Amino acid sequence: MAKVFSGIQPTGIVHIGNYLGAVKNWVKLQNEHDCIFSIVDLHSLTIPYEPKSLNQRVLDALATNIAAGLDPEKSSIFVQSLVPEHTELSWLLTTITPVGNLERMTQYKEKSEKQGLLAGLLCYPILMAADILLYKAELVPVGEDQLQHLEITRVIARKFNSTFGEYFPEPQPNLTKATRVMALNDPACKMSKSISGSYIALTDSPEEITNKVKRAVTASDVDGKMSPGVANLFTLLEAFAPQDVYQKFMKDFNTGTLKFSELKPALAEAIITELTPIREKRTELLAKPKILEEIVEAGTKRAKKEASENMQEIKELMGLKLHF
Ligand code: TYM
Repeated sequence: MAKVFSGIQPTGIVHIGNYLGAVKNWVKLQNEHDCIFSIVDLHSLTIPYEPKSLNQRVLDALATNIAAGLDPEKSSIFVQSLVPEHTELSWLLTTITPVGNLERMTQYKEKSEKQGLLAGLLCYPILMAADILLYKAELVPVGEDQLQHLEITRVIARKFNSTFGEYFPEPQPNLTKATRVMALNDPACKMSKSISGSYIALTDSPEEITNKVKRAVTASDVDGKMSPGVANLFTLLEAFAPQDVYQKFMKDFNTGTLKFSELKPALAEAIITELTPIREKRTELLAKPKILEEIVEAGTKRAKKEASENMQEIKELMGLKLHF
């Protein structure tokens, strides 16, 4: 049994990229491992936001993830800012993190181009390393876009261990088959909340899902090689549809008889079938905030206990524990 940690930002939208790349995997891993999952509100502060809407976005993220299958009986679910040890460890780790590694991060380069050179954007991966290392997590289920951040987490863990003594395991990623779901309207980019028209949200209605799939860019295949748009639809089909449906369309593609007028409705139907119960459960949960509160309270209690015990040991190793 491994210790698993992962997080998701409360951006207001959980899309099928988040779901297939991470959340659906969390639901699977919680049956086999010791899992802690966090709504990382502190990370989300690095994107311009409306303070008044943050509370609701955190509740939405909680409800959506629980509706998608996170089970508080099997795993712990909490909100990052409720456990201040995350920010405390983050500071300690800044003292051993090479700036060059931070400056090389793709997400830092992309975001700072739009938002300016903010220290929060630069130090974002250190807070993420703190999230993971605080619980001595060994396995981190994420999508491909987080691999760089995980690599820097391992650099920081090695640096800590060689400087202060062996303490942190080097956390390994756990990827799904759909580790990089592409934008429906531009298959050269990854599906992202920040590109409108790129995503299907877990909360989209059947009509919205049908229309979005219908409009998905396919482009023509070159020399029998699947275009990125078509490949993306097949990734989605494999993840959402029954095996025989996926295989039928794959065979059609291989024999040159694939019809988008058949593939797209079949894909839309498969997505609708899987997302409808999630959407309904989410609405139910949001109507009962007391249940969400209890889940977060229990998750925070457990996270806080482990975090504070480990922080004591980390401080001892760093010479920060006072002995009189
Ligand atoms: P976030 O909130 O952007 O995304 C949550 C998870 O969804 C995955 N993901 C995707 N997977 C496949 N295809 C896509 N198009 C796609 N878009 C997003 C992400 O890889 C992620 O796993 N920095 C993290 C949150 C975080 C975290 C952590 C993760 C903070 N601390 C500690 C793991 C461990 C983030 O912004 O994820």
